[in-house]
Amino acid sequence: SDTKSTNIVWHEGTVERQQREAMNRHKGFTIWFTGLSGSGKSTLSVALEESLHRMGCRTYRLDGDNVRSGLNRDLAFRPEDRIENIRRIGEVAKLFRDAGIINLTAFISPYRQDREMARMLSERGANDFLEVFVDAPLDVCEDRDPKGLYKKARAGSIPNFTGISAPYEAPENPEIHVKTGECSIAECVDQLIAYLVEHDYIH
Ligand code: PPS
Repeated sequence: SDTKSTNIVWHEGTVERQQREAMNRHKGFTIWFTGLSGSGKSTLSVALEESLHRMGCRTYRLDGDNVRSGLNRDLAFRPEDRIENIRRIGEVAKLFRDAGIINLTAFISPYRQDREMARMLSERGANDFLEVFVDAPLDVCEDRDPKGLYKKARAGSIPNFTGISAPYEAPENPEIHVKTGECSIAECVDQLIAYLVEHDYIH
């Protein structure tokens, strides 16, 4: 086993997830954004959260830069760091689902296998884990370069930069595919809300 914890016994509470969800009048589920740096994950998750919040949903957002300055401050960008980054986020997302909250995660999460791992932690399978492919071509992301990181990566001063010197494995079957190179943020949010309503996640 890869766990160092032994003699651990799960302690059951008396308030159940379903009871928390009933109070929130929606289920707890994860909206997992994945895409290149600069593809619009953070912008989109902020905008979607705002819409959901206005509709009366309980939401919480987990974002790469924010989580990496706290919980995951010990991790860098080598493959093993990214794997551990996503593993922890997957576990945190699971806690938020159990809390009955709609959690939106915005991480590059470049490896297909890690995203599948995060999905496998879901108690209700695909029902409470929605993968959103935030799709913008590399040249578009590089043109935007909001933090100037692509420029630095091209100059060789950032090693292992996703899309330049580290891989990004695009999702093969995401629940939702948004094209931020072609559509505005508002249009993408509409597309996401429409999906959630149509599939009865929110009403
Ligand atoms: S990952 O791959 O999921 O573990 O990455 P994530 O936690 O989302 O963090 C991505 C943000 O970190 C900044 N950054 C880098 N990204 C990719 N590669 C390298 N080497 C790197 N170094 C720093 C970058 O600002 C990413 O932010 P976003 O919002 O994706 O642009």
